[in-house]
Amino acid sequence: MDIKELVRSTVNAEIVKSRQFIIAANWKMNKNMKEVFLFIDELKKRYTGKKRNSVILFPPYPYVMLAQELLKNTDISYGLQNIHWESSGAFTGEVSPLMARDLGCQYAIIGHSERRNIFFENDEMINKKIKAALAEGIIPVLCLGEDMEARRENRHRDIIRKQLYEGMADADISLQNRIIIAYEPVWAIGSGATAASNQIEEMHGYINSLLCELYGSDIASGIPVLYGGSVNPGNIQDLAVVKNVSGFLIGGASLKVKDFLKIIELLE
Ligand code: PGA
Repeated sequence: MDIKELVRSTVNAEIVKSRQFIIAANWKMNKNMKEVFLFIDELKKRYTGKKRNSVILFPPYPYVMLAQELLKNTDISYGLQNIHWESSGAFTGEVSPLMARDLGCQYAIIGHSERRNIFFENDEMINKKIKAALAEGIIPVLCLGEDMEARRENRHRDIIRKQLYEGMADADISLQNRIIIAYEPVWAIGSGATAASNQIEEMHGYINSLLCELYGSDIASGIPVLYGGSVNPGNIQDLAVVKNVSGFLIGGASLKVKDFLKIIELLE
């Protein structure tokens, strides 16, 4: 390692240590019961004691109760990948914030681009979900992200602004840590093409400025903004030093416990 590289890695290690990251695993529609059991068992063995960073797992619905059981007395949290906005009723196939609460979930991912694009969720529905989650004491992880076409046409900021403003319309987040934002450019999700550091820095800075507009700088500074999109053990150290990045929402690389633990370890 030459001297420049040594200085760079020492400075980066200091930056990483000075931050508190949220490391969230979005398993999407993956894993069976046995795999969930083995993953959490291994994670618990290797991830013990109170840590500076927070770890959150988002298993598929049917395994949330198993996660609840296995994560008892640990510092690892869990949540739902999606929720409905009503508390109960004739909504076949849906799960309510009340049920999430019943299962001990602290968090719910809302407005993931797969929900927006495959299941046609719009900002109005996402806004209802955000408000319903907040009313039930569930912390929403609101996902924002532009597609490649919008980025090519230089409309990415407008998209993010619309998604944030409409998603959060009339939502009461008077307590600072009641919302988490995840910036996930659609073109970076599952594609192996992580956004470049300067793109992430620019967008996280922009999201922070929007949050300041909405809530004032005191509250905005307490709202974590995660990055998501092809995060893996090989790029985590570069991503962790990007300005205004408070953590990661990780899909593919969170499925293998070895990779997920490596990411956790590199952020310690
Ligand atoms: P990825 O997914 O890490 O596989 O790109 C991230 C996400 O969709 O949250």
